Order: sequence, then C-alpha cells, then structure tokens
Amino acid sequence: MKNITNLLATAVLLIAAPILAQEAKVSANLARTPPMGWNSWNQFGCNVDEQMLRGIAKAMVDSGMKDVGYQYVVIDDCWQVRRDQNGNIVADPERFPSGIKSLADYVHALGLKFGIYSDAGSLTCKERPGSLGHEYLDARQYAAWGVDYLKYDWCHTTTQDAKAAYALIRRALDATGRPIVLSMSEWGDPRPWDWGKEVGSQLWRTTDDIVDRWQAQIKWPNGNCCAYGVVDILDQQVGLESFAEPGHWNDPDMLEVGNGGMTTTEYRAHFSLWAVLAAPLIAGNDLRSMRSEDREILTNPEVIAVNQDAAGKQGSRVVKNGDSEVWVKEQKDGSRAVVLFNRSAASQEISVRWNDLGYPTHLRAEIRDLWQHKDLGTFEKGFSARVESHGVAMITVKIL
Ligand code: GLA
Repeated sequence: MKNITNLLATAVLLIAAPILAQEAKVSANLARTPPMGWNSWNQFGCNVDEQMLRGIAKAMVDSGMKDVGYQYVVIDDCWQVRRDQNGNIVADPERFPSGIKSLADYVHALGLKFGIYSDAGSLTCKERPGSLGHEYLDARQYAAWGVDYLKYDWCHTTTQDAKAAYALIRRALDATGRPIVLSMSEWGDPRPWDWGKEVGSQLWRTTDDIVDRWQAQIKWPNGNCCAYGVVDILDQQVGLESFAEPGHWNDPDMLEVGNGGMTTTEYRAHFSLWAVLAAPLIAGNDLRSMRSEDREILTNPEVIAVNQDAAGKQGSRVVKNGDSEVWVKEQKDGSRAVVLFNRSAASQEISVRWNDLGYPTHLRAEIRDLWQHKDLGTFEKGFSARVESHGVAMITVKIL
C-alpha cells in the first residue's frame, strides 16, 4: 500500500513539476526595468473608445515615445459592460464595435504592447463587472485577445485578502501560457511591497490615486482620504526603496505630465523624481495633441535612461533641508543620478556634497546636466545649482 502511495505521489510530481516550472517561467522575466507606457485613466476617465485608443497608440509611435522606450497602451476602467450567459466579460459594443482583439492587433502591429484593466472584487471602481469568481475565465479571455499587461484594481473587495487575490490572478494569468505583466492597484493599503514579489506581480501601487496638482489631498466622495498631489505622493515613497528590484517595482501612480494642472517646471520635476524613484513611467495625457514642452519632458532620453538603468535600484532622499532636497539613484556603472529639488515658492541654491552620495570628499567628478543635455565639467567636494521654485536640476555624478 505504502509503495502504491509513493508511486502515485511520484507520478503526480512528475506530471505537476513541468507544469509548475512552466508557469513559473511564463512571467518570470517580465519588467526587468520599470514598465513604460500610457494609460487612459488620468486624462479620459470612463470616456474610452477604440478610436481614441488607436489614435493614442499611433501618436505614441509618431511622437517618438516608442523610440525612447514607451510600449504599453493600457485601457483603464469602463471598457467592460456586463458578462454574457457563459460568464464571459463583454466589452462595450458601442465604444468598442470592432472588439478588443482587433484593437490589440492594431496596437501590436505598431510594435507596441496592449494592456487592460480589471478588479479583484465583484465590481470595478466604476462599478463595471470585476473578476471575482471569474479569474481563470477572464485570464483566458485576455490571453486570447492578446493582452500583455493587466492593471488589477481593489474596489468592492469587502473581506477579500489582498495577497491571496493577487496570487490567484497571477496563477490564472500564468496558466494561459502568455507572459502578462501584473500591475497591482491596491493603493498601498495592505503593504504590497512586503509580498508583491512573492505573488509574482511586476508592480504595486504604493499610494492612493494621483491628481494633476502639485500639492493636494482630496477626499473621496465617501469621505475616505485621499487622492494626492505630486509632493504628497513623493513623501510617501521615502523608505520604500529597498523593495524595488528588476522585475518588481513600487508604483507611486501614473504620470500627470501634460494634463494641464501643473506648470512645465512642475511637470519636469514630477518626471525627474519618478525617474529617480525607478517608478513605472505610464503617461496619462492626450498624446494626440501634446504640447512640445510636454513631449520633450516625456521623451528626454537621458532622464529615461536613469529610470531604465539595468541595476534597477530605486533612488532615495539623502538630504532634506526644509524645502530643499537631494534625491539620489545609484546606476549600474557606479555613477549617481542626482535630483536637486526645490519645493519652496522662491528659487534657491541647492548643493550636494560627495559624502551625501557615499563618496570621499577629495575626489573629482564629472557632472552632466540631463535637462540641459550638457557636460558641466569636473567638480571637487560637491556641486551646487540655482533651482527655480518647484523645479529640479538633474545631473549625473561620475567619479573620475
Ligand atoms: C482606482 C485606481 C485608479 C483608476 C480608477 C478606475 O481609483 O486607483 O488608478 O484605475 O480606480 O476606476
């Protein structure tokens, strides 16, 4: 009897091991650098349709964004209206008359990747059908459509356990055999940085929603706190840097660059800081009608290179003197990307000393300005710049 049991156990292992190994492989190497792309929510909310999305995908190519690394075109909430009699999720037939597959095909034909949105609960945040109880069915549907990225939200989840819910959708996605990035949108409440990697997600939200403001805390209609401005979100990232690594990223929410609620200086700061945070760079503006200033921000190849550096280290705040801050990101070649950040209402001189970066003071270093695209020469001990209000100077420091 014991022998038969052992034999059975071995047989089960022999069958299961390759399946498990294959599942593990499917999503194992995704997002080795922070994902870059575009998402409909920040600019369009529920006003999504296939024509707009095709236009955005085309603009991602024509604007040069694809060339500098943006690849995912993600539809957020409100594309779905109901389930059919077999439980399959149904896209809004008026807004997506050609169907999701044809939209995904269009995006793929441009050399881009396609993403979609659902929710771990019974309903999405905008009360469309969520995936609860339909995880495997939905995952199969997404794979059949050609989905490459799933943003999975956390509304209407009542007593669900976040870790278990995200692990379940990860398994369902992997079981399709298609590599699909999992973006967890649980707003940081259940400390996703502690377990996001273990459940195999590529990114997890560390905050509630961003709003297109420099500084704001806006209560939700139900009285809960809050959607936040850029600096409020920035402060919430302090201390999370050790949890990011290639394949697994803290997500301080998507970019607002170009959405009109901040100045160009503020958008440049927002983008620079998200770059140093190794944050996913998910644009959220209307790419079809972008101002050239916003395009220049979103496509600055030197700032993007800092974000996409292969070491995958998230930067941290090493100096805070009231309204002046220094943020530093260690790069693979040993250099440091540095953001001198002025939060105050007036311009001010901000300095970084080599020992703030962990370097001995006497060394000489080469400085390059990543917004002026200019080598500034070699400096000893440290470097200072005059930084405008709500602005940044962003440099790389390379020891000679
Ligand atoms: C939540 C998410 C947002 C967006 C909306 C959609 O608020 O945090 O990013 O996806 O839902 O309803």
